[in-house]
Amino acid sequence: MTEHHWDELVSAYERWAEPGSRRFAEAALDRADLAERADVLDVAAGTGALAVAAAGRGHAVHAIDSAQGMVTRLAARLSPLPHCHAEVMDARNLRAEDDLFDAAFSVFGVLYLGADTLKAVSEMVRVVRPGGVVSIVHWAGPVGGGPLFVPLARAINRLDAPEAGRLTFPITSDYLDRREVEQLLVEAGCTAVESALVERPCPMPAADAFVTELDAIVRIMPHYTAAITHHRDRFLEILEDEVGRMETPILGRANIVQGRVV
Ligand SMILES: C[S@@+](CC[C@H](N)C(=O)[O-])C[C@H]1O[C@@H](n2cnc3c(N)ncnc32)[C@H](O)[C@@H]1O
Repeated sequence: MTEHHWDELVSAYERWAEPGSRRFAEAALDRADLAERADVLDVAAGTGALAVAAAGRGHAVHAIDSAQGMVTRLAARLSPLPHCHAEVMDARNLRAEDDLFDAAFSVFGVLYLGADTLKAVSEMVRVVRPGGVVSIVHWAGPVGGGPLFVPLARAINRLDAPEAGRLTFPITSDYLDRREVEQLLVEAGCTAVESALVERPCPMPAADAFVTELDAIVRIMPHYTAAITHHRDRFLEILEDEVGRMETPILGRANIVQGRVV
């Protein structure tokens, strides 16, 4: 995930991905049932789906992300709110004292760090006080990504081009399902780990917006890059058709996995 150019897609992310993330972030905040004015950390915060929602509930929010562009945008959104800040930081090495926060959240964030995921979750546990909450939101199978990837994968497979190949789910080989995320929280030092599957509406861009606005996200799939490079017009035609076939409202499904720090 770190190799992708998050700085290039701040406004597209805020427009097309954050509204869905925001609904899952609100659900994670509901489940955490925090005391008033809690100290909340948002890890891999992006444009602030969780951070802005938590700040709106009156919590003191510290948001971190490794992409300067995301942090600049989020800092501007948080600046009118008291006790809320955003900072460039790597989730794998948090610059924060032990036991500092009442809760740490990561929404569609640390579980994309592959072999470093456990390290990032352990960092979240380290900076939360005993009895506090660690909460991870991640897409529920079988896609392993958001609804954006559904028409994209169908279009790649309908294109049936040798350069693009076929796309099978989950879209990343590092995908962790609900039980694996629960296990990860236990390994990182949490107790009372529980999870919930939630379904929320998510926006769906038109086919050309995948290329003009969301390219930096979807190019994580070499199949897409090959399809757009070798068969652009036909691929966009099929993609438009697949976007049109999606049942509305477009629903995303995510697991909210939460534990308590010992
Ligand atoms: C899919 S976005 C999720 C953003 C936000 N949490 C949301 O749900 O809308 C993933 C974010 O992780 C950030 N990121 C990637 N690697 C990171 C790392 N090592 N440390 C902190 N943030 C990272 C990216 O810059 C990006 O903003």
